[in-house]
Amino acid sequence: MKKLIAGNWKMNGSLAANEALLAELAAGLQAGAPCEIAVCVPAPYLAQVQALKKTHAGLAQVDIGAQDVSAQASGAYTGEVSAAMLKDLNCRYAVVGHSERRQYHAETDALVADKARAALAAGITPIVCVGETLAEREAGRTVEVVKRQLAAVIHANGHCISEIVVAYEPVWAIGTGKTATPEEAQAVHAVLRAQLKAATDQSARIKLLYGGSMNAANAATLLAQPDIDGGLIGGASLKAPDFLKIIAAAHV
Ligand code: 13P
Repeated sequence: MKKLIAGNWKMNGSLAANEALLAELAAGLQAGAPCEIAVCVPAPYLAQVQALKKTHAGLAQVDIGAQDVSAQASGAYTGEVSAAMLKDLNCRYAVVGHSERRQYHAETDALVADKARAALAAGITPIVCVGETLAEREAGRTVEVVKRQLAAVIHANGHCISEIVVAYEPVWAIGTGKTATPEEAQAVHAVLRAQLKAATDQSARIKLLYGGSMNAANAATLLAQPDIDGGLIGGASLKAPDFLKIIAAAHV
């Protein structure tokens, strides 16, 4: 299975900055890449990125993702963006349940599961984020927390579960420069893999990404772990040379 390197730009960018970043990325990808690539961009820029894909040949293999999606199909939900709208803009992915949304927008396991279901119903692959806080890790609750978060999504999505991507993002490693060691990340990935295997006989298709201060220097050792199928990259995805180095490290 090819690895997936997905950038999560979070709330960063501008028309000019996005164009510069993607032009640099396109130039670096002219010769091809060893993995699948995606950029998850702020909703107002989805159309811009879609247009840039048409003018920059190097972006042909870069898929577009959103950073969130509504659990609702349509209607009076001011400010929300539906999965059908994302599909309209050629999105392949939508991040759901990022810890920043769980934390700052009080997203529950049940809501995250509904968002994953809404994405799948529209033909969008949800990148379902799970991860423990520092307090939870120190209390020895890592496995319990990530299994609870994933169980909600499995429960709500039945046999469609084989169509999701899962990202393990320990909250204490996000934007902190503290990365889980390859062994720590692998241990959690193995737990998630076993949980998915119990849920579907198609679990081998499900990519398990690691996220949390992944960068050009540490990507290769993380990606070498048997159950790490790619990365969800925050800060380092905003710098084309760094993102390109991570992509180069993601050979099978
Ligand atoms: P950083 O790579 O900036 O730590 O962010 C990780 C992340 O949250 C990706 O979704």
